[in-house]
Amino acid sequence: MMETIVEQRLSIFVEDPAGPWHVVAQHAIVGDPLPAIEGLGVYAQPNPHVQDAGRWMLRGIASNERYATRDEKTRLVAAQEGLGRPESTRAVLIPIRKNAQWWALTQDERRAIFEARSSHISTGLRYLPAVARKLYHCRDLSDTEPFDFLTWFEFAPEDEPHFDNLLAELRASAEWDYVGREVEIRLTRR
Ligand code: HEM
Repeated sequence: MMETIVEQRLSIFVEDPAGPWHVVAQHAIVGDPLPAIEGLGVYAQPNPHVQDAGRWMLRGIASNERYATRDEKTRLVAAQEGLGRPESTRAVLIPIRKNAQWWALTQDERRAIFEARSSHISTGLRYLPAVARKLYHCRDLSDTEPFDFLTWFEFAPEDEPHFDNLLAELRASAEWDYVGREVEIRLTRR
């Protein structure tokens, strides 16, 4: 029973040359790169694409929020739009791993870095609704997951420069001192 509920929240990001997303650029920002791929599909398990051995695959689970306050959540819900908008023909997948120092902190210490020092949510809010987002957690799926988070963003082509500004702002923040691995994969919808 529990397994079924978890599976419903699990998404698989898999190399799929004929998949709905075409890779236009892929590079490591921090740490090791991922093998280059041409196309990507995002699927729920079970799916025939996921069974193909040897394909590049990442998995993550939609989870509850950890850091957002009630006030922040109210503002996010009011401003954000969902994935799959017809004009959102660009997407970016950014798998992220945070370091041991981050995970040794307590929840309140992490929240202080995340928002009081880094303004992650207040910065992100300025880019809504142009950028749609979804956060997946990987850390608790196994002891050998390559990343802690898979982050997914969608926007219209004309908003790509704004997205680049958002990345620059976040990557310059104190939170990113704790990022041990980060890969950026830019995609266009076929
Ligand atoms: C589009 C604007 C953005 C908004 C509104 C936003 C908002 C948020 C919020 C509310 C959370 C906390 C969720 C919780 O309470 O657990 C979060 C977490 C996170 N976001 Fe963003 N974000 C944005 C952009 C980004 C970008 C561009 C990246 C990657 C480069 C990113 C990476 C992350 C990561 C890795 C976490 C998890 C942090 C952790 O749990 O340690 N976000 N974001």
